[in-house]
Amino acid sequence: MFAKEIYQQRRAELKKKVGEGLILLFGNNDAPNNYAGNPYRFRQDSCFLYYFGQKREGLVGVIDIDNDQEYIFGDDIDIDDIIWFGYVPSVSELAAEVGVTNTAPMAQLKTVIDAAKNKGQTIHFVPQCRHDLMIQLADLVGIHPLQSKEKASVKLIKAIVDMRAVKKPEEIVELKAAAEIGYKMHTTAQKLCAPGVTEKYIAGVIEGIAMSLGDRYAFQSILSMHGEIQHGFPSHTPMEAGRLMLCDAGAESKENYCSDNTRVTPISGKFTQQQRDIYSAVEAAHDWVIENAKPGVKWLDMHLGACRIITEHLKAIGLMKGDTEEAVRSGAHAMFMPHGLGHMMGLDVHDMEGLGQNYVGFDEEVQPSTQFGLNCLRCGRRLQPGFVMTDEPGIYFIPHLIDLWKSQGMHKDFINYDAVEPFRNFGGVRLEDDILITDTGCQIVGDKVIPYHIDEVEEFIAKD
Ligand code: GLY
Ligand code: MN
Repeated sequence: MFAKEIYQQRRAELKKKVGEGLILLFGNNDAPNNYAGNPYRFRQDSCFLYYFGQKREGLVGVIDIDNDQEYIFGDDIDIDDIIWFGYVPSVSELAAEVGVTNTAPMAQLKTVIDAAKNKGQTIHFVPQCRHDLMIQLADLVGIHPLQSKEKASVKLIKAIVDMRAVKKPEEIVELKAAAEIGYKMHTTAQKLCAPGVTEKYIAGVIEGIAMSLGDRYAFQSILSMHGEIQHGFPSHTPMEAGRLMLCDAGAESKENYCSDNTRVTPISGKFTQQQRDIYSAVEAAHDWVIENAKPGVKWLDMHLGACRIITEHLKAIGLMKGDTEEAVRSGAHAMFMPHGLGHMMGLDVHDMEGLGQNYVGFDEEVQPSTQFGLNCLRCGRRLQPGFVMTDEPGIYFIPHLIDLWKSQGMHKDFINYDAVEPFRNFGGVRLEDDILITDTGCQIVGDKVIPYHIDEVEEFIAKD
């Protein structure tokens, strides 16, 4: 946990930004697997964590702006809990650690909310993604459980996004710690990658590294010879010589800040010429973004710039043709890169996605697109110092998508479908690093960069 003053300052700033009413921030409850006694591993809600810091389940934070009061609601554990799980400090002790003086049992939350409603106070809440909290919210404020998104407070969402988007020094320390664990995960995966080893074995080892060095892995590892599947989870299939292994994985630091990197390793130890051609295109796009991302630049323009580079490279090897600018404007390149360049990152690996991507990544100036591929861009707005973004261009050969577009004659002025045929079983390449926007440019988060230049990767995996 950070120093209590950090949480006090964050809540004070939030109060100022929202200005009036009462803010309700739910912590998460335990989520049962098949029965309540076997829950999924607990992860605190990121907004609760940001403002109230405590990681115990079953807490709700309230900031009554109009009456300048802060509360944490929750039930103290009883002797049965102590027997099974050990002693946990009382709710009032937990609250004191983050500078909150008012606590009360959960049953009293409704009384406080009812009193606020009776006085005509606005109740501000954010969209809920967990069903138990949708129901709890519905009970408190009288909306249907599925209305938490449409009835959420835009003022609160915007205030939280403003604050969480710009990472403070203590958060950058945590992001670097996550990056350090991510480095160990990815370099271990690169070293273990060999014919006959299963995807699941490598994923298990690297997730173990995340679990043992940080709080946990940041998301289910994507690790597959089928890199063309955007979120391809590992299987027990032994890996085959000649193919590529795509590994997209990250860690959470002890304070739950994330890392998210992707590397692609040749399973036989050497890239083929075909693999070098595709990899070099992605590498050029990735590096161009690092050279060009800086405050004031639109992330949308970083995305489009990366797409232009990919198109140029695909033209050079004969897979695309025509005018690059027109090809990118029409979305033809999206058969090869059907996703966005990257997303914000912080306490959530897709930072704040639960608050609504239109508030997190877009504004009046830059609006989301509906064009295939571009509609997956999670952020388009201008960068600010302190933003942390993932830079993750890719090229994929998705047989079903190629066949569909070919059968529909899609973008046939820009795509050489015959030349694409020999790549059908290629898989995919994505390279991903997390970048911190500085005052003048950007830098990769972390002290060490996971090897990614072609020769560097081959040398690294060959070394004992
Ligand atoms: N690293 C997984 C994703 O960004 O979707
Ligand atoms: Mn990512």
